[in-house]
Amino acid sequence: MPNNVIWNDVDEYFIEKLIPNDSILENVLLANYHAGLPSIDVSPTQGKLLYLLAKIKGAKNILEIGTLGGYSSIWLARALPEDGKLTTLEINHEHAKVAEKNIIEAKLQNKVEIIIGKALDTLPSLKESNSIFDFIFIDADKPNNPHYLNWALKLATSGALIIVDNVVRNGEVIYQTNQDASVKGVRKLMDLLASDQRIDSTAIQTVGLKGFDGFVIGVVK
Ligand code: SAH
Ligand code: DHB
Ligand code: MG
Repeated sequence: MPNNVIWNDVDEYFIEKLIPNDSILENVLLANYHAGLPSIDVSPTQGKLLYLLAKIKGAKNILEIGTLGGYSSIWLARALPEDGKLTTLEINHEHAKVAEKNIIEAKLQNKVEIIIGKALDTLPSLKESNSIFDFIFIDADKPNNPHYLNWALKLATSGALIIVDNVVRNGEVIYQTNQDASVKGVRKLMDLLASDQRIDSTAIQTVGLKGFDGFVIGVVK
């Protein structure tokens, strides 16, 4: 069997066993599809990993950069306590509109705020309002990953978890001379992580419904 076929089948098996019958999240993916959004959300098993990490952390204030249709937002917001809050940043009005509807369907509108605009324009306002986050998920335009990490470090509590999606770039991440802006963004992010004393991190490769990819997982000191 080609690798990607077995990766898909194993992911489907894990989903059937561990994440069965989640009609709210299944409807989110349907709504995204009907609205023409790209299917670049995290997979169900990855979404549940984010949820479990937020639970383990006891996260109360989550920041997400890159909302799309709110699929990962909903996973993360489900991990919040009654008085918890997730702030999610999205540049695309159409994506934000679909996400808002999905978040209402998931009955999470009281815990989720979508801020529309270029994240690099809206992140400073979070700092100005003294917002502080104990869990940060970076999943937007990859060339800006180094800037997003710097902002995340400015906005994080001590002990905060910082997760970055899509750090493998199909293996291209290892090539110093690769000229792709997303690969360069991830490599610069890795250089920052290598040298920045404020965060302790690892990276993990993943396979499954979303192909070959991976996450950075870090804890702010
Ligand atoms: N986290 C989502 C997927 C996000 S896809 C999930 O797993 O369900 C990346 C999103 O980042 C897209 O919706 C895209 O419009 C948004 N994005 C791209 N550039 C951005 C920017 N500069 N500022 C904010 N959002 C951006
Ligand atoms: C892309 C973005 C993502 O966040 C992702 O998980 C997969 C692909 C993209 O921009 O192609
Ligand atoms: Mg992603």
